[in-house]
Amino acid sequence: MVQDLEAKARELDAQTARAKDLPTTKRVLAKQQKTVAENLRRQAAGSIMFFDKPAVAAPLVPMIADRASGCNLYDLDGNEFIDLHMGYWTQIIGHAPSVVVEAVKREIERGTTIGVGNTLEIELAEFLIEHIECAEMCCLAISGTSALMHALKLARASRGRPKIAKFANAFHGHDADLVVDLPEFRHGLAATDDTLVLPGTPEAFDLIRKHADELAGVVIEPAPPVRDPRPSYDLAFYKELRRVTADLGIVLIFDEVLRGFRCRFGATLGDQVVPDLACFGKIIGGGLPVAAVVGRRSVMSAGATSGNALRDLSGGKVALVGTYNGNRIACAAGLAHLKYIKDHQDEIYPYLREKAHWLGKEINAHASEHKLPIESLVLEGGMVMVKGRPPTSPMHPAVLLQTYLRDQGCFFSGAPIQISTAHRPSDLERISAAFKAAMANLVADGAAPTAA
Ligand SMILES: Cc1ncc(COP(=O)(O)O)c(C=O)c1O
Repeated sequence: MVQDLEAKARELDAQTARAKDLPTTKRVLAKQQKTVAENLRRQAAGSIMFFDKPAVAAPLVPMIADRASGCNLYDLDGNEFIDLHMGYWTQIIGHAPSVVVEAVKREIERGTTIGVGNTLEIELAEFLIEHIECAEMCCLAISGTSALMHALKLARASRGRPKIAKFANAFHGHDADLVVDLPEFRHGLAATDDTLVLPGTPEAFDLIRKHADELAGVVIEPAPPVRDPRPSYDLAFYKELRRVTADLGIVLIFDEVLRGFRCRFGATLGDQVVPDLACFGKIIGGGLPVAAVVGRRSVMSAGATSGNALRDLSGGKVALVGTYNGNRIACAAGLAHLKYIKDHQDEIYPYLREKAHWLGKEINAHASEHKLPIESLVLEGGMVMVKGRPPTSPMHPAVLLQTYLRDQGCFFSGAPIQISTAHRPSDLERISAAFKAAMANLVADGAAPTAA
């Protein structure tokens, strides 16, 4: 297995070296000279390349942003790109929306007031409780990962059981208990046998029943995971999961970090399947770090202080803490973002859906015109995944497309594309034309991926 990986890694190095010599790569690097120089400075200074940014800065063409506005991202050389990444899918109404910018400006002048209460955290919690079916209480956090960590603690404390179950291949942030089956995240972490990894099939229900005595919670996204979209995750599957966990007194945790408020205003499945806890992030912060775990009082109250520390200790409460939890600047941004989306939801969600389907079809048409083993998969919420078909070679076609689309004025990170309402029809036409030209250039440069 390791040898296999090593051989693939060598092949990838060789492909990367070849790709660096391609005329298109050279053209992009020449256009982004300041960006490239700054990236080298960063490396020389010892700044670590974050694992979640290889798509942004490596392996071929770096991207260090100067600023972003609407659907555009600007690099250090002043090049304008249409952004297909949108801040890790956080900005569905575009970058720097004026409502968010104004809210942040207003609040920053009043001081950050960290560590004491503020009215905006109360207002945001009230807002989430009002709009999310399972939410009777809310605890704010600053990242999806930290919200999930809170959720696991709440499940364990409220049930008095040690184990958590998750579905294979699903990403739920980088808490050690939730990455046991994800090779790229689990290295360097202490091994844990507190996690049960479930298959994305009905056999999962048998496993849950078998381990019920030790299972505190089951974590799942309310939609097929982006890493591994499976047809078996349909509504019936979620309903059965709800039934089984409720019967066994296991806390059902929906990870809504990616999906929440993206497909509709509120929780993804609305009142069709109501979990015990749900974790939100991304969109609820409007680009600033806000996340939340919300849920039923019977579970959430395990994290609520009585105001008497001794009573909390003897009552087996868990501490859900964090310096920046509920900070006023981020809460102001999140509230402004959510309120705008709420007021314009009838235009926003149909637009994202319709345009994602349109772009997905365009990409597929261009790929088949150029006989490339590339296809798109449209996800709910304005997202379009571009992938190789079937897995081609160590260099995922999306890596090459990053470079070729950059050449065409689009910033594509390799991760699923996020359309926002700031991507107007003319921008979408330009994106489609960019894909077409990028694919033609891949063929012309002799760099087109081939099916394995
Ligand atoms: C489904 C899901 N859960 C959790 C997370 C982790 O969120 P964060 O990166 O804010 O910690 C992510 C991040 O992309 C995610 O997609």
